[in-house]
Amino acid sequence: MVAQKLREFGCDEIVEGIGRTGVVGVIHGSRGMGRTIGLRADMDALPIEEQTGKPHASKNPGMMHACGHDGHTAMLLGAARYLSETRNFSGKAVVIFQPAEEGGAGGKAMVEDGLMDRFGIDEVYGLHNMPGLPVGEFAIRSGPIMAATDEFDITISGKGSHAAMPHQSVDPITIAAQCIMAMQTIVSRGVDPVESLVVSVTQVHSGFTDNVIPTTAMLNGTVRSLKPELRDFAETRIRQIVNGIVEAHGASVEIDYFRNYPVTHNHPEQTQKAIAIAEAVVGVGKVEKDVRPMLGGEDFSYMLEKRPGAFIFMGNGDTASLHNPAYDFNDDAIPVGSSYWAKLVETLLPPR
Ligand code: NI
Repeated sequence: MVAQKLREFGCDEIVEGIGRTGVVGVIHGSRGMGRTIGLRADMDALPIEEQTGKPHASKNPGMMHACGHDGHTAMLLGAARYLSETRNFSGKAVVIFQPAEEGGAGGKAMVEDGLMDRFGIDEVYGLHNMPGLPVGEFAIRSGPIMAATDEFDITISGKGSHAAMPHQSVDPITIAAQCIMAMQTIVSRGVDPVESLVVSVTQVHSGFTDNVIPTTAMLNGTVRSLKPELRDFAETRIRQIVNGIVEAHGASVEIDYFRNYPVTHNHPEQTQKAIAIAEAVVGVGKVEKDVRPMLGGEDFSYMLEKRPGAFIFMGNGDTASLHNPAYDFNDDAIPVGSSYWAKLVETLLPPR
């Protein structure tokens, strides 16, 4: 549908299948040669049963746009239409519609498919709606704005036994419990309290009945960080603590640690440009310039690793939070987002 819309709008070039199902549209300005700016929207949904009760609620059971990526797509399509009609800029605008932001690393897949070089992108910009921030307001910061999101899978192997003969076991459950509690000290006793780090065990799986001590216990969880040194620190300490406790009890362990999305790191110069453009759209005083970072993840981070750019939050008003079954993208924000994109292109690619 996105590719079809871009064709209808008269985009000069439309490429499908970048990063498997990503879509890219290229719009040439009519005001001279110049640089190339990338604008990125995400398109995917979440495995959540929608409970908004709205007429436009998802028709697919167990799937909904609980993060507003449908709104992001609509806003960038709006800008693509306007830019295709007016072309009041130099150089090229590249509209990027990526799949699989919600953990599938579609942004990374598009980057690895040559997105930046293929279209000659010089700078790249991203946007996400934010419940709780009023419609018509923006928020951004230079430097880290969203976290690196890592995951760990820990499998503790002990020795099963009859529950009435625990002395014959190496109980993986008590060992797992000690690991969970000890891991709570990684942040609370290992990190300067002014810094940001999350270490959470979010899954515990072991056992199958009341009268048996099982053989294995599994712990899964997540680590969120804003700085590379804290990211390294968390992984190192998880391994030290778990290996030490497991060894002390004569069990064995396998630790799989996965480094997922990197920190979304806004570049200072492009952040200042984004602030100026947002202020031009919604007015001075409506743009928070030093918003607190969020420890959610964002695969736009892969694009920011390749090119300078900035990621900005846009107000969604007083709605349910992101990833909530009652979340609803606020359509009143659509002109704000489309205007931001259009203004960004016309400002950063001035007519020559
Ligand atoms: Ni999202």
